[in-house]
This record gives sequence, structure tokens and C-alpha cells, in this order.
Amino acid sequence: MNERKIRNFCIIAHIDHGKSTLADRFLELTGTVEKRAMKAQMLDQMDIERERGITIKLQPVRMQWRGVELNLIDTPGHVDFTYEVSRSLAAVEGAILLVDATQGVQAQTMANLYLALDQNLTIIPVVNKIDLPNAQVEKTKHEIMQLIGCNESEIFSISGKTGVGVTELLDAVVEKVPGPHISPPLEGGVRGGGSDKSTPPNLPFVRGGTNEGEKPLRALIFDSEFDEYKGVIAYVRVFEGKIKAHETIHFLATKKQAESLEVGIFTPFLKKTDELESGEIGYIATGLKNVTECKVGDTIGGNIEVQQLPGYKELKPMVFAGIFCKEGDAYQNLREALEKLKLSDASLYYEPENSKALGFGFRCGFLGLLHLDIIQERIKREYGLELVITVPSVAYKVVMTDGREIIIKSPQELPSHEKRREVLEPYMKLDIFSPKEYLGGIMKLSSERRGIYVNTEYFDETLAVVHYEIPLSSLLVDFYDRLKSVSSGYASLNCEFVEYRKCEIVRLDILVAEEQVEALSTLVYDDEAFHVGRHMVESLKKTIPRQQFVVKLQAAIGGKVIAAERISALRKDVTAKLYGGDYTRKRKLLEKQKKGKKKMMGIMKGRVDIPTESFLDVLKR
Ligand code: GTP
Repeated sequence: MNERKIRNFCIIAHIDHGKSTLADRFLELTGTVEKRAMKAQMLDQMDIERERGITIKLQPVRMQWRGVELNLIDTPGHVDFTYEVSRSLAAVEGAILLVDATQGVQAQTMANLYLALDQNLTIIPVVNKIDLPNAQVEKTKHEIMQLIGCNESEIFSISGKTGVGVTELLDAVVEKVPGPHISPPLEGGVRGGGSDKSTPPNLPFVRGGTNEGEKPLRALIFDSEFDEYKGVIAYVRVFEGKIKAHETIHFLATKKQAESLEVGIFTPFLKKTDELESGEIGYIATGLKNVTECKVGDTIGGNIEVQQLPGYKELKPMVFAGIFCKEGDAYQNLREALEKLKLSDASLYYEPENSKALGFGFRCGFLGLLHLDIIQERIKREYGLELVITVPSVAYKVVMTDGREIIIKSPQELPSHEKRREVLEPYMKLDIFSPKEYLGGIMKLSSERRGIYVNTEYFDETLAVVHYEIPLSSLLVDFYDRLKSVSSGYASLNCEFVEYRKCEIVRLDILVAEEQVEALSTLVYDDEAFHVGRHMVESLKKTIPRQQFVVKLQAAIGGKVIAAERISALRKDVTAKLYGGDYTRKRKLLEKQKKGKKKMMGIMKGRVDIPTESFLDVLKR
């Protein structure tokens, strides 16, 4: 009989509602990290996370509290990482639902709550930041009661900052969250230790020590990172069986085989242990060189065939953009930066790209805009590179006339009309959470962006959630900023991929001084092409400085110009020295100037330096 008491839980919240701060209090109260060693927000280990106050990387931790082992998994509260959050939730039995008393329930509070309910987690509702003078504790409690149908007495009121109520909350975790099911492991644990590379994956192994209820290893990967010495480190929840160092492990989805070089727990730093058994959260160092072989949501098994744990999904990039260096010679540094980032980020995609206007760079794929933002920010900070990011586009799927399906990563890859049967674009389910008075503006914005209205739910007298289905491309440019402006900052959103749907798009090319600038090509809806083209040439006119010659700006589809502008030449006043009325001399000089310019235009054609700001400004509507 196992005497261990374990509680596995996580904190779910909308961005900034105080998850990391509360986690810090937990670490302090349980004495996991000594107070003097505490940096504010211990669990947000990356610098950029600490600075911007957002959690990007999940950092699990084991704490001891009144004789019980508490395993806390911190989850990122951002829309691009819904799948990762769902896998973290699948690894635990309970969740603290944390709501900021000054903000109330928001879009991701709801979205994450639903994910937690999908996993049948025990929910502990909490109102946070009650120390703030503008905290609306009663109102927030009321919203939580509406949301989960609990009694007021079940809701905890705390301040993660001052620590008020946090001890009681830890006690509640022990009391309310069910302990994990701990199955007695098979005698001897995983079979066939050592990395016998000749053993094909998933082969049933001869069963030994088969007492009733004994189970072979099944562990869920909820995250991973790359370590230079230990290779890919899988963050796991062991559901059945146990695992020690130097045993053969199999990855069920990727069909990879490896050896467990080391197993251990998070303190929150990695700490080696003898074994991990069912019910535990910890890590397995795999020695693998590539995170793509150790996918979030996959199951790790031993040498006895097991079924994959439910919920695994293959993640694909949804947004593509070109990344180039402002200074051309930094290409190698950019390559190194991307290589390093990719080591710990399986969902980042990149391949070399060459652009006339921007030089050598990379075409990169991301889970969404926030992911793009994080990556570019990390390259800038951690590698000190100045970047130019081209206009992002979504991952269109093209069905070719021969039935093949391809994903296009850049506008240049769009096959011609004759070769393609149809183009499909990613559609998202969009939930916007807002006080009622802003619904008009929100609905106008969503329908302008091709949103298909689904319904509105009234949460209580003041709050509503509007549901839309909307193309991902509509969210790419400035949707979030516009949403904040039409709702005076009150609305919050959550979105999730639904499916690919048919769309009519064309490639819009931009010509500067009669040269096509590939980096400015975009894929646009057929019926919006004229309008977008017009807007692009107008905004380029504002950002490209005047040259010694006239610069033509053209927007074209398939070689046909649909909109044009011109930037007039800088004219040096060649007649400045002339006084009086000698008109013929003046005309002569002007003629000479004109001729010179014509010649120069021939030479300079296509040599217009386009300021890098133009690339992002151009598409803002
Ligand atoms: P993400 O990681 O981006 O999801 O944010 P988070 O939920 O981890 O929030 P975080 O802990 O970073 O807190 C957000 C802000 O709220 C920070 O400025 C905190 O200092 C502040 N904060 C958190 N908890 C409290 C609290 O109980 N009282 C007060 N006054 N401020 C708090």
C-alpha cells in the first residue's frame, strides 16, 4: 500500500490576473524556495517573461505542505497556446480558478475554465487582489457564481501580493483536490533496460510479474525543453507504471525510441530522483536532439505495448512571416538564433528565404500572432539583432487539380488558377467578452472583418459574450487593438481554430519604380483587392522618401495594374543663381536637369531604398 499523498493542480486565469504572483507566494509559504533566493515571480523564469509580466513557458514545481506533495503546473493564459494548456490540465486533478477582483471574469477565465471542465478537474474558485482599493470582491464573487454555479462560501478571497488567504487556499488544495490514482507498478518496472536500438517500438513484451492491477508505463508529455547535456527533457505526468534512469522508452505518436538518461522532479529546478511512479509529475531526460520527436500531448511507454493517452494533437503553424535582419551581414547570427530557439520550441518553423529588397532571411511559421511576437522579441533581446518582419499571412491550404493538398507559406507559393482547384483558409471560433454597452462597436468591427455572427450570451446584467466565426486572416493585422479601442479597453477575447473553409484570394503585387518588391506581395480577398491595393500604394507614398527621380508605385494582380501613385522627384533649384528675366537660360537649365534625371531614372530603376517601417505599416487598415 502506498502511503504517499500527492495533489496535482494548476492555476488558471486570464492574463495578468496574478497567477505568477500567487505561485511565488506558494513557493515561499511552503519553504520550497528560500525567501532570500526568491526573485519576484520565480516561475516566470525567462527575462522577457519577467519584464512583460506574461508567462510563456510552463514551469512546474513540487512543494511540501503539511505532509502532502503538491505538484503545481503553471499554465500560459494566452490564446496561441490553448493546446498546451489543455495538456497541462490533463496532467492534474484540480485547478485554482483565479479571478482579479478589479477586472472580474474575462474571456480566458471562461475559456480555460471550459478546458478544465473538459478534463473533469475539481475547481477551486478564488477572487484575487483583494488588497487593491478598487477591488470589487462581491461583484466578482457574483460573476464566479454565475459562471460555475457554486455557493459564495466556496469562493476564496485572497491577495497573492500580501499573502492574505493564501495559507487557507493551500489547505483547500490538499482537502478538495482528489489524490491521483496510484497503480501498483509492474514488478521491475519497465522491461528491457538499456537502449536496444533493434527493438521496434510498441512491440508487446513478454509479461512478467502480472499481479492483478499492475500496469506498464504510461506517461503524458505536457511540455519539453532542450538541455545541451541531457538532450530533450520531457515534462511528464506518470499515469501508470513507473520509470527509472537507463530504461528504454517509446514515444507513441512519433514512434521514436530512446533511453531515459535521468528522471527527476522540479524544485522548480531539475532534481534527480531514483524513479517516477504513477501519480507523479516530473521529468525524463531523453538524450534526444530534437524536440519535434518529443511532442506535447504524446505518451511515453516502456517496452510493453500500451495505448496512447487521449487528446494528442499534431500542432501546425497557422501564421507565416518573413524575418530579415536590418543589417544584411547579420544573417548568420539570425540563423543561429533561430536554430537555438527551435531546439526548445517544436512549433516554430523556419526555412531560408531570399528577397531582393531585404536580402537573406527566413520564412517562419508560428502558432499565432502572439507566438510570432514572442519569437521576434526573443531574437531581438537574446541575440541583439535588429529585425524586419514582413506582413504576416495565414496558412492557406490549396487543393490542386490533381487532388494534392499543399500549405502555402508565402504569397509567391500560390499556384496559378489553372493548377489549383480551390483555396481554403483557417477559420477561428472567436469569443468576445465585454460589458454590454460596447457590443454595438464590437459587432460592427467583427462583421467588417468578415466575422459570421453565431450568438450572444448574457452572463449577468452587465456582461455579455458574443460568439463569432471569423477568418484568422481578419485577426492578423490590428484586430486586437481595434477591439480594445471600440470597448475602451474592457473587451477581452479568446479564439480557437475550427476548420479550413473555402475562400477566393488573389496575389497582390507591389511595384516600386517598376520593380516588383516580393516582400510586399500579399494574399488578399478577391473582392478587397482593389481597396487594399489603393491603400498600400497610398501608404507607401507616405513612407518612401523622395528620390532624385520620379518613383512610380503600383499595385498589380497578375501583371495588371489596379492602383498607382507617384512620388515626385526632389528638384534641386538649378535656377537659384539666376536673377532677372533671362527666361531662355532658365529653361535651358531646367531642360538639362530633366534629361539628367531621365538618365538617372534608367540607372536607378529598382534601387529605391524602402524604409523597413513600410513593410509593417502598409497593411494597417
Ligand atoms: P500572465 O503570466 O501574463 O498570465 O500574468 P499572471 O496571471 O501571472 O499575473 P502576474 O502574477 O504577473 O500579475 C500581474 C500584475 O498584477 C503584476 O503587476 C502583479 O504585481 C499584480 N498582482 C498580482 N497579484 C496581486 C495582488 O494580489 N494584489 C495586487 N495589488 N497586485 C497583484
